[in-house]
Amino acid sequence: MTRIATARNDRGSAAGNAVEVHGIVKHYGATKALDGVDLTVQEGTVLGVLGPNGAGKTTLVRVLSTLIKPDAGTAFVGGYDVLRQPKQLRRTIGLTGQYASVDELLSGYENLYLIGRLLDLPRREAKARATELLERFSLTEAAKRPAKTYSGGMRRRLDLAASMIGRPRVLYLDEPTTGLDPRTRNEVWDEVQRMVAEGTTVLLTTQYMEEAEQLADELTVIDRGRVIANGLVADLKAKVGGQTLQVRPVDPGELPRMARCLHDTGITTATYSADTGLLAVPITGEEQLTAVIGVLGGHGFAIAGIDTKVPSLDEVFLAITGKPASADAAPSLVKEPVA
Ligand SMILES: Nc1ncnc2c1ncn2[C@@H]1O[C@H](COP(=O)(O)OP(=O)(O)OP(=O)(O)O)[C@@H](O)[C@H]1O
Ligand SMILES: [Mg+2]
Repeated sequence: MTRIATARNDRGSAAGNAVEVHGIVKHYGATKALDGVDLTVQEGTVLGVLGPNGAGKTTLVRVLSTLIKPDAGTAFVGGYDVLRQPKQLRRTIGLTGQYASVDELLSGYENLYLIGRLLDLPRREAKARATELLERFSLTEAAKRPAKTYSGGMRRRLDLAASMIGRPRVLYLDEPTTGLDPRTRNEVWDEVQRMVAEGTTVLLTTQYMEEAEQLADELTVIDRGRVIANGLVADLKAKVGGQTLQVRPVDPGELPRMARCLHDTGITTATYSADTGLLAVPITGEEQLTAVIGVLGGHGFAIAGIDTKVPSLDEVFLAITGKPASADAAPSLVKEPVA
């Protein structure tokens, strides 16, 4: 790991690291759910843990929440040892699990109040905190309805609110937006960004490169229980490549001419596929995007649709390991280009 500082605090982990994981192993029979994982999350930052189905993400979150014991290795959260100081550690963390953990029969308010009481908040404070969080996560209107009547996005927001009751220093989000529609996903991202701005350290698991790009400072890529890459999101992105602009002309017969026009103006990375009917141009910034659109518009090509695409999990794995991710391919967040 690159950033383990040498100074240790009185609780055992290096100064500045909210989470430190060293050689964590967890096997289920022959399944190596975690096979020697190392990672660190710096105080006040977001670490994205990116991996396909079955990579070991939830197992890692469970170990770091003291819900299961590792077979080997050590881990510290907020300086507390997962094995030796589980109680103190649990007071440091908030957890939004992969599956909704709220009680469906209780209302949003009742759920939050109950969690506040479970966390030993006095009645008045539990009430105030529930009301405040419902407001903040735009659930005030639905506060009195049973959670089973909530939409997927509302439940996720209630989950997030629930994990914030105890004002955790470190928050785990296990695939917070899998299965959500793009609008709801954006709402969740906004909330996460707000929590981070207020100083919360976040460990986020995801199957989406786009999500990691939006939220994470650093990224650890795992596959079959092993870390296969880690570093700054920007560095990994540079390795994998940035966005690709996809342009669909009204007449696919125009594709060769469109590519030629771009080549003539120095945009030599444009390619096209007659099969998909798309022109593809890797782009590194807004300027280039504007230039491409300008050239195509200037030549009067009739365009049916444009879209930008970030690399998929598969493309990330391919770039890092030279082979596709081992488990089922992750569902793509990126909608198909406009037809
Ligand atoms: N309690 C368990 N008993 C047996 N095998 C388990 C158990 N929990 C996890 N596994 C196995 O460990 C591996 C890692 O599972 P894990 O749930 O951590 O993956 P994940 O990265 O969270 O996947 P997903 O993206 O599908 O949620 C999988 O092969 C899984 O089947
Ligand atoms: Mg999981």
